[in-house]
Amino acid sequence: MADNAKLIIEGTTYELPTLIGTEGEKAVDIRKLRGASGYVTLDSGYMNTGSCESAITFINGEEGILRYRGIPIEQLTEKSSFAEVSKLVLDGELPKSDVLDEFSRVLTENAMIPEELKNSLYNFPADAHPMSVLGSLIFGLAGFYPHVDATSSEDEIRTAATNLIAKTSTIAAFSYKRSIGEPFVYPSKDLGYSENFLNMMFSSPVNGYEIDSDMVEALEKLLILHVDHEQNCSASTMRLVGSSHANLYSAVAASIAALWGPLHGGANQSVMEMLATIHQSGKDPADFIEMAKDKSNSFRLAGFGHRVYKNYDPRARVIKGTCRKVLEKSAKDPLLQIAMQLEEQVLQDDYFIQRKLYPNVDFYSGILYKAMGIPTEMFTVLFAIGRMPGWISQWKEMISDPTNKIGRPRQIYNGNNKTDYTPVENR
Ligand code: CMC
Repeated sequence: MADNAKLIIEGTTYELPTLIGTEGEKAVDIRKLRGASGYVTLDSGYMNTGSCESAITFINGEEGILRYRGIPIEQLTEKSSFAEVSKLVLDGELPKSDVLDEFSRVLTENAMIPEELKNSLYNFPADAHPMSVLGSLIFGLAGFYPHVDATSSEDEIRTAATNLIAKTSTIAAFSYKRSIGEPFVYPSKDLGYSENFLNMMFSSPVNGYEIDSDMVEALEKLLILHVDHEQNCSASTMRLVGSSHANLYSAVAASIAALWGPLHGGANQSVMEMLATIHQSGKDPADFIEMAKDKSNSFRLAGFGHRVYKNYDPRARVIKGTCRKVLEKSAKDPLLQIAMQLEEQVLQDDYFIQRKLYPNVDFYSGILYKAMGIPTEMFTVLFAIGRMPGWISQWKEMISDPTNKIGRPRQIYNGNNKTDYTPVENR
């Protein structure tokens, strides 16, 4: 235990407790600061603010480490499955084999979505962005299933969690089928989670779909890599919305909205669009690097940089290896060649070195999704499918924390002082 921190304001010394996490992360506890001193802290973007204590995910951004419940993601992507990792983050420990079998069974059993919800897909234009459809239908699930919030029983929460993980991939695949005007393919009890998703996406009444085990393995790895990433924008949204005791389904829908942004999960779509632009332009990737460095231009290299990683994103390393393996079998993708060229040049460029900008998870994931036949607009949806167990785990942890309160930051008001109303004729 470190000494208390001392803060001197206007001649008065305030003692603030400090705490150190299990991996040595240090914090000053300011929870009583405003009550004692009248001061709040100002930290836009929360770059220095810990919003909670959490035992789910550990990241060391300087060293490029990511672990779920203590287990390195390199081991999980090598040895585990998406269903098992989901159970790991949700329950806090690796499941015994009977627990895992039962979870896998109920995941498949709950993969169907209500027919009315399925039919509502026709109320969206065929070219609606699939993130808009996913967010809306997940929100819609709240209308079909019992309300679940912080006061619900463990059983009710477990049922809703399974329901959400199971149904997200079905909604995603159905929205794709709707967008291309093909009939929906229902989930099958004989298939595992990723197999079912690929089958629902690509099988049709006239053309069966042969499930490629390499693609299933690659998809499982991608989903595992996306399961959780501690207090990022969408996980914090989950906690903030959930802290009002809003319905679990609505908190997840809010997280989906947060994930869609191009600075967060939407970056995987932006990366593919950027690589395609470089390819079509016939220019050297170096021209785009120069453009990203030019401060008078708002262009940024999509897929580079991260708020926490100031080293190679460990998720990008795993995906890059999988990309090479999968693409060895299929036709060489020119976008992969461009991506590797771009990465090589960026890693030698002073601008990026000084700012510690490395490829992030989104840089290579799109190339793999493309190899699976998944359209670019669906990439962020895939991120959401993978992140679902993480969001729910963050929510579960929050509601079981006795110190948790409704999320409600303060502000420093810098607007007008009291101003009298001016009648319209005098303005
Ligand atoms: N290209 C060019 N310059 C960049 C980039 C980039 N991709 N990312 C950051 N910079 C520069 C930025 O201009 C700034 O320069 P300066 O110090 O001269 O003003 C410096 O690096 C620090 O950037 P920042 O925006 O203050 O850093 P941040 O921590 O607020 O933002 C980020 C992190 C991920 C939003 C940002 O790096 C970015 O916009 N990257 C591109 C989008 C992207 O790939 N997002 C996916 C993130 S990983 C998926 C997920 O977990 O959500």
